Amino acid sequence: MVVKVYKNADEIGKAIGTVFASQVIEKPDCVLGLATGSSPIPTYKYMISLYEEGIVDYSKVTTFNLDEYVGLNHDHDQSYWYFMHENLFNSINIPEEQINVLSGTAEDVEAECEAYEAKIEAAGGIDLQILGIGNNGHIAFNEPTTYFPMATHKVALTESTIEANKRFFASADDVPRYAVSMGIGSIFKAKNIVLVATGAAKADAVAAMVNGPIDPNCPASILQLHSHVTIFCDEAAAAKL
Ligand code: GLP
Repeated sequence: MVVKVYKNADEIGKAIGTVFASQVIEKPDCVLGLATGSSPIPTYKYMISLYEEGIVDYSKVTTFNLDEYVGLNHDHDQSYWYFMHENLFNSINIPEEQINVLSGTAEDVEAECEAYEAKIEAAGGIDLQILGIGNNGHIAFNEPTTYFPMATHKVALTESTIEANKRFFASADDVPRYAVSMGIGSIFKAKNIVLVATGAAKADAVAAMVNGPIDPNCPASILQLHSHVTIFCDEAAAAKL
């Protein structure tokens, strides 16, 4: 696990955006694993600027997003499908059919999760995965629990996550109680992982992920065992390392 500390979120955006650009230039038909939340936004902005300048062409890229709220369809402005289109896909040139986001409204959730897992495999696996981290140490929506859930699955959100994410909804009551999420195993299969953590609220989770025991109570701690993971922090998030 390599930890890099930057001055601010924009510097991190440029650094991770550069990793993404290199990946796409080296392997134009690569598979990118993408995340939502505020953490990846500066990275997406930088990726868009490289597209607008004609430096990076994303037309052969395939993407898989980490997770989605159960019950929200594409039109809901808090669905992760909507977020990704607003913050990245509408501004670059990945064809829609190469974009994959789990459905939050599938009738058969189990079948949806199995099909998603199979589709990642069929695409050759994820070359580069970006992650954020929850205040409670979650990655994607793999919440703290007593085991590491391996495959893509439906998950009940914890109070801590509902509390952290209520800022995007009218009230805490409007935050969906369930999500579908790639599992720890699905994420672990990515060849290269970059994780971004900014702000003081992430300092405990970052310290537990990097220096704590490998424990499903801090799902991100499993990344200590991955062979190619880089943590990009600002000074506030790195304060307890
Ligand atoms: C959500 C997402 C995670 C994300 C986390 C942190 O719950 N499911 O993938 O990493 O929140 O979000 P933020 O980057 O806004 O702090």
